[in-house]
Amino acid sequence: MGKVGFIFDLDGVIVDTAKYHYLAWRKLANELGFEFTKEQNELFKGVSRKRCLEILLDIGNVKATQKQFDTWMIEKNLDYLAYIEKMDASEILPDVPRVLNFLKERNIPIALGSASKNAQPILEKVGLLPYFDSIVDGNNVAKAKPDPEVFLIAADNLKVKPELCVVFEDAVAGIQAANAADMVSIGIGDLDILNEAQYNFKDFTEIDNQFLELLLNKNK
Ligand code: BG6
Ligand code: MG
Repeated sequence: MGKVGFIFDLDGVIVDTAKYHYLAWRKLANELGFEFTKEQNELFKGVSRKRCLEILLDIGNVKATQKQFDTWMIEKNLDYLAYIEKMDASEILPDVPRVLNFLKERNIPIALGSASKNAQPILEKVGLLPYFDSIVDGNNVAKAKPDPEVFLIAADNLKVKPELCVVFEDAVAGIQAANAADMVSIGIGDLDILNEAQYNFKDFTEIDNQFLELLLNKNK
């Protein structure tokens, strides 16, 4: 049938950076005079930086000039960069290295498919960059998730047919993107939120090697 490929989202799948995005957005919201809750932050998962700011300003009912909008985008990112500056391997989510090693030992191509423009430095900081054969991130795509573009580019880079790719995602928009790309979608996180995924797990500790073997052999 052909070889399989694995595509990982970054934020919330490989590392728990959602908390840093949240702190940076909350700081901006507070400066603009309103609250931004953890529940509201759920809406930001998998969503581009620009779209996040649009949603944030809607929440606070704040009107912005183009100049203010651009300034706030930069400010939020500088605050976020200050948080991720201190990141190291201890922030890799449980059992991610086991799964990556399992795939590497079997020469399975691995890609990153993320909306973030900070993906590469984060992978470098946590020491996982060498595992990835291709990195597709917010710098390489025109259309944001739920558009399948990011995953289709990743599949193309890996030279694997989309229908033979497996995607790990923690965002609703990401699961929709994987489904739209005709890939196997695996939700990492809350089943109630990620119910459009083909398979669901709370985190990688629930994904055993037997299930990974099943994914590898599914298309043989
Ligand atoms: C996604 C996150 O991975 O990247 C979003 O889930 C974030 O919350 C988006 O807004 C863009 O990230 P960045 O690092 O380019 O601001
Ligand atoms: Mg994510």
